[in-house]
Amino acid sequence: MSKNLLTKSLTGHEFKHFSLSVEDDIAWLNINVKDEAANVISPEVVTELDKACDEVSKLSVKGMILLSGKSSGFIAGADVKKFREITDPDEARAFIKAGHDACQKLEDLAIPTLAMVQGFCMGGGLEIALACDYIIVDDAPSTKLSLPEVNLGIHPGFGGTVRSIRRIGVLQAMPMMLTGKNIMPRQAAKMGLVDMCVPLRQLKSSSIQTIMRKPAKKQAPKSAKLLEIGPMRTLIAMQMRKQVASKAKQEHYPAPYALINLWEAHGSSSDQMYAAEAESVLQLGMTDTARNLARVFFLQNRLKALGDKSLFTPKHVHVIGGGVMGGDIAAWCAMQGMKVTIQDLSADALGRVMGRATTGFKRRYRKDKFRIMQAQDNLTPDLHGNGIPSADVIIEAIYENLEAKQTIFKDVEAKAKPDAIIATNTSSILLSDIAKVMKKPQRLVGLHFFNPVFKMPLLEVIYTPKKTNVTVVKQAQSFGAHIGKLPLPVKSSPGFLINRILMPYILEGVTAQQEGIPVAVVDKAAVDYGMPMGPLELADTVGLDICLNVGKILADTVGVTLPTALDSEVAAGKLGKKSGEGFYQWKNGKKQDSTKKDWNGDIQQLQDRLIEKITTESQKCLDEGIVEDADLLDAGVIFGTGFAPFRGGPMNALSESD
Ligand code: NAI
Repeated sequence: MSKNLLTKSLTGHEFKHFSLSVEDDIAWLNINVKDEAANVISPEVVTELDKACDEVSKLSVKGMILLSGKSSGFIAGADVKKFREITDPDEARAFIKAGHDACQKLEDLAIPTLAMVQGFCMGGGLEIALACDYIIVDDAPSTKLSLPEVNLGIHPGFGGTVRSIRRIGVLQAMPMMLTGKNIMPRQAAKMGLVDMCVPLRQLKSSSIQTIMRKPAKKQAPKSAKLLEIGPMRTLIAMQMRKQVASKAKQEHYPAPYALINLWEAHGSSSDQMYAAEAESVLQLGMTDTARNLARVFFLQNRLKALGDKSLFTPKHVHVIGGGVMGGDIAAWCAMQGMKVTIQDLSADALGRVMGRATTGFKRRYRKDKFRIMQAQDNLTPDLHGNGIPSADVIIEAIYENLEAKQTIFKDVEAKAKPDAIIATNTSSILLSDIAKVMKKPQRLVGLHFFNPVFKMPLLEVIYTPKKTNVTVVKQAQSFGAHIGKLPLPVKSSPGFLINRILMPYILEGVTAQQEGIPVAVVDKAAVDYGMPMGPLELADTVGLDICLNVGKILADTVGVTLPTALDSEVAAGKLGKKSGEGFYQWKNGKKQDSTKKDWNGDIQQLQDRLIEKITTESQKCLDEGIVEDADLLDAGVIFGTGFAPFRGGPMNALSESD
C-alpha cells in the first residue's frame, strides 16, 4: 500500500492509532491502536478518528474504507479500563460527546464510506461501522458483531441506538442491544445489519466494488417506520419491558430499561434520541451496577489469563465414564476441536453418550451441518480404553467412589504417556486420597467441571499444595483455556471452592423451610437479592442425595450444620428434580409452582441470613487460602454459581455492606 498520509507534518496532530493511504482511488483508513492487542476505543482514539475524518475529507478519492491493522479483529469496543478510570462526570460527558461527534463526522463524509470487517466488531466498534454507509464482513466463524454494552451496565453511547434501529428496525435492533448477543456473519447479512458477508479472499475486492458501484444503503423497511408512531412505540415498549422484567430486575440492571425508555421517549426523532442517548449512558455509567459489571469483566479477563495456551497443546482427550458429566465433558471438548475418545462400561452406555452428544451439537450449531459433522467426527466411542496411551489429557468422570476411582488411576498411570495430564472430575474426594495408589501421585490434578457443562464457564483446577506438580497445574489451566473454560486454581480441600460456598447457603434454605417458612418464600428472598436460583430449587436441581453426601463431608470437616429435613427427604425417596419430587414437585424436568406463599416474617432478615452464609464461607475459604485472593474468589463464585454479577462477587458485596 502507498505511503501513510497521516503524518504530523500534514495534519499538525501526531497520529498514533490510525494510518491513511490511497490506493485504487480509495482512501484506506487503517485503525491499529498502539500498545494494545486489540483495537479498543479510548478518548485518544476517538479524537484521532475525528481528525482522520478531516484528513479524508480533503482527499480527492472515490470513497473511504475503514479497516483494522490487527489480526485479532476489527474493533473490540470501548477500552473498559480507561472508561472505568473516568470518574468525573464532565470528563465522561466529554468522551461521549467526542464519540458522537466523530461518528457524525464519519457519517457526514461526502464520499461513500465502508467498514471492512474481519474478526470481532463489538460495541463502539460496531457503532463506528454503523456510521459508515456500508459494512462488509468476512464469513468466518471468528467474525462476530454485537452491541454488548448491557453486559457492562450501560447501552450504546456513540449514536449506536439510533443508527442500529435506522438500519435494521426496532424489532431487530432492540433485542440485539437488550441481550448483547453475538450476531454471526450470515445472520448479520440476513437481518440487514451488514451489506454482505463474503469469504475472506473476496473481502477486499467486494469492498472496492461496493464503493465503486454505490448501491442503495441498507435501511429498515418502511413498515418499520410505522412502529415509531407514538402509540405503537408505547405498546412495543411495554412488551419489551415485560420481556426484560422476566430476566432482570430494574433495580439490579437499569440499563435495558433505560434503553427502552430512551426509544419510547425519542424514537421518532433522531436528533433528540442522540442527545438523550448521551445523557442516559452517562447516568448509567455512574451506577454501582455498571461499576460492578466492569469489575466482573476484569475478573473474567483475569481468569482467562490464568490459562496460558502456549504452555500446552492438547489434541486428544480421553474421558472415562460417560454419565451426566463425562458425556458432556467429552462432547464439549469435541466441539472445541479436540479429538476425543469416550470410555464407559458397555456399548449401550456409549450409544447413549453419542446420542446425547449429537443432540447437544444440533442444539448448539442449529442448522450448521458442517460444524455438527465436525464435532461428531471428533468424538469416538472407546469401550476398551484404547485411547489412553495416545491421549494428551485423560479425565476420569465415573461415579463418586474412592476405590473405583483408585482402580481407574492405577490402570491409567500405567498406560498413559509420561507427559499426559491425568485428571479427575471428582466433586468431593480429596486429590491426595485418590492419588495414594499412584506411583507418581504428583501427576494427578482435579479438573472439576460444573453441571451443565455446556453452560457453566468455570473450571476448578484442583491441586494439593506442595504435592501436585506445579507444571501439571499450569498445563491443566492451559487446557482449560484451550477448551474455552475459565480455569481457577483451587486448593484440594473438602468441597473445593464452589460446593463449599454453595452448600451452607443450600442448607440454610433447608433449615428455614424446616422452621416453617414456605419453600417459595425462601427461594424468592434469595432471587430478590440477585441469585440465579433460590437454595431449595438449587438443592432439588443438584439432587438431595448429593447435597446430603456433600453436606455430611462438610459437616465432618469444616463445621457446616446439617438440618434433619434433608435426611428425612432422602430417606423418603424424595431426591429432587431427578425423582420428580423434592422441595418442589417436578414434571418432565419442569419445576411446578409451589402454592404456599403466605408468610408474615421479615423477608429482608431472611435474605440476609441466606446470603450471609455465602459471604461468611467465602471469607473462611479466603482465610484458608483455598484460592489466592479475594478477586479470584469473587470470580470463581460469579462464574461457578451465577452469584449476582451486579454485586461484583461475595467479597465485593461484603466490603460494600461494611
Ligand atoms: P453418572 O453416574 O451420571 O455417570 C458415571 C458413568 O461412569 C456411568 O455412565 C457409568 O457407567 C460409568 N462408569 C462407572 N464405572 C466405570 C468404569 N470403571 N469405567 C468406565 N466407566 C465407568 O455420574 P456423574 O454425575 O456424571 O458424576 C461423575 C463424576 O463427576 C463424579 O465423580 C461426580 O462427583 C462428579 N461431578 C458430578 C457433577 C454432577 O452435577 N453430577 C458435577 C461435578 C462433578
